[in-house]
Amino acid sequence: MSSYLRNVWYVAAWDHEVPIDRPLPRTILGERVVLFRDAEGNPRALLDRCPHRFAPLSLGKVVDGCIQCPYHGLQFGGDGACTRNPHGNGAIPKAAQVRSYPVVERWSVLWIWMGDPDRADPGLIPPFRSMDPESRWVGKDYLLARAEYQLETDNILDLSHIEFLHPGSLGSDAVKQAESDVQQDGNTVYSRRLTREEQLMTSLAQRYGIPEGQLVDRWLDTRWNAPAVMELWVGVAPAGAPDPRAVGKQVPFIHLFTPETATTTHYWFATSYPKRMGDEGRRRAESDVQYLREPFEREDLPMLEAQQRAIGDSDFWAMKPILLPGDAAAVRARRVLTALMKAEQDSKAEKASAA
Ligand code: FES
Ligand SMILES: [Fe+2]
Repeated sequence: MSSYLRNVWYVAAWDHEVPIDRPLPRTILGERVVLFRDAEGNPRALLDRCPHRFAPLSLGKVVDGCIQCPYHGLQFGGDGACTRNPHGNGAIPKAAQVRSYPVVERWSVLWIWMGDPDRADPGLIPPFRSMDPESRWVGKDYLLARAEYQLETDNILDLSHIEFLHPGSLGSDAVKQAESDVQQDGNTVYSRRLTREEQLMTSLAQRYGIPEGQLVDRWLDTRWNAPAVMELWVGVAPAGAPDPRAVGKQVPFIHLFTPETATTTHYWFATSYPKRMGDEGRRRAESDVQYLREPFEREDLPMLEAQQRAIGDSDFWAMKPILLPGDAAAVRARRVLTALMKAEQDSKAEKASAA
């Protein structure tokens, strides 16, 4: 049995995953949803189950911005109302209505609201200007992890793991000595790490344009928002500057997680470069994201999945995890999420008792 925060924007898909002419099925918080675009090109989401004989609507097709059931051809609009019955006199039965979910397209992403639709305020979507398709080339990718989504949050908020899990690509043997710092502003958690005098792997150094043998100071600064969306800026400067962040160059890496089920997680990751870099920016965004896919797929995913198998159905806190200094941000994020879920459940209980 698992519970989720409902009144929050979850990532449902990259914008390009839902073209104008094809529906996309996706399970979110254990609910089967179909995403498609209406006649204006706006993204829409419905429960992926026709109210007639319960065929998945996602097996159907998009006709004039409505989704047509593959079985007997009923059509439904983005608000879930049946718009066409091709049978008999074409009368539309009153109950021919599918649950619809608010969806917003912003920052290269389709965001879905799984909670009370009246509370779906797009102003609550955290800013991801680093993925603004107007001003940035965004290199995007996706993986499915067979692990609970908060393990993913732990993974990104505690990047001390890159030394041990990614020694051949992202790590170096100086990472564990980083200066780190955690801040919280409302429900947003910030984790900043600065490693001094690192010798980066050649393949990584080349990506930053760092000459062979040059030591660098590298920072990994992450912002977390509920439920599990993170923007990480990674920057490097030649070692030795008093404030490397002021003199170096940085690139964003975005990590977005949505529970598919209690033990599986959708993982969207991206990087970006300014549009003003022209084609070079586009090439780098695509090539950097492919470079990252390798360690994520070959090293992080197997680790997360092995953790999930070892944890099974046990409760994370009941197992009394040991806490290391690098866990501060992830623990903070888990606490914020727990508090938000508790507030949501309390207000639901209050409403129920008032009714
Ligand atoms: S199951 Fe959808 S129209 Fe019959
Ligand atoms: Fe990793």
